[in-house]
Amino acid sequence: MSKFIAVSTLTAAAAATFALASGTASAAGQDPAVRGKAIFMRCMACHTVNKGGANKVGPNLSGVVGRKAGSVKGFNYSAAMKKAAPTWDQATLDKWLTRPASVVPGTSMVFAGLPKAEDRAAVIAYIKKAGS
Ligand code: HEC
Repeated sequence: MSKFIAVSTLTAAAAATFALASGTASAAGQDPAVRGKAIFMRCMACHTVNKGGANKVGPNLSGVVGRKAGSVKGFNYSAAMKKAAPTWDQATLDKWLTRPASVVPGTSMVFAGLPKAEDRAAVIAYIKKAGS
């Protein structure tokens, strides 16, 4: 009898987890920025995104999409970033977030990269929205 109770409790827990997961997936389907907010958690140790936000280990990212690299006042960019100075359009950001050193060899951004294209697109959408 106690064995039966244990099994049914487990099943209920699994069902609840599944409902939660599918709820998240459909919300993300509506707006990539929603999914991007969760992905931005991986950037938050080093970046703020709100307008006028502080520089941390990395510069504030408000308005970064479409602007020239290395232009946040008061942030000490690497010599490599100052020299390469790419413009952060969608394609360049996509490459950067795949592997930062592929855009700026010698950059001081120590980040393994986001291997999934949809994660990169989502976090860029979030930065555009949250940083404007
Ligand atoms: C371990 C800290 C760290 C993490 C984590 C990190 N970054 Fe960075 N980021 C930096 C640093 C440091 C720089 C400045 C690089 C340089 O000067 O070479 C930077 C620069 C940038 C720039 C260029 C900014 C500019 O003004 O030109 C963008 C865009 C960026 N990061 C996006 C992200 C995103 C999006 C994530 C998360 C997916 C992320 N970073 C995760 C530290 C980090």
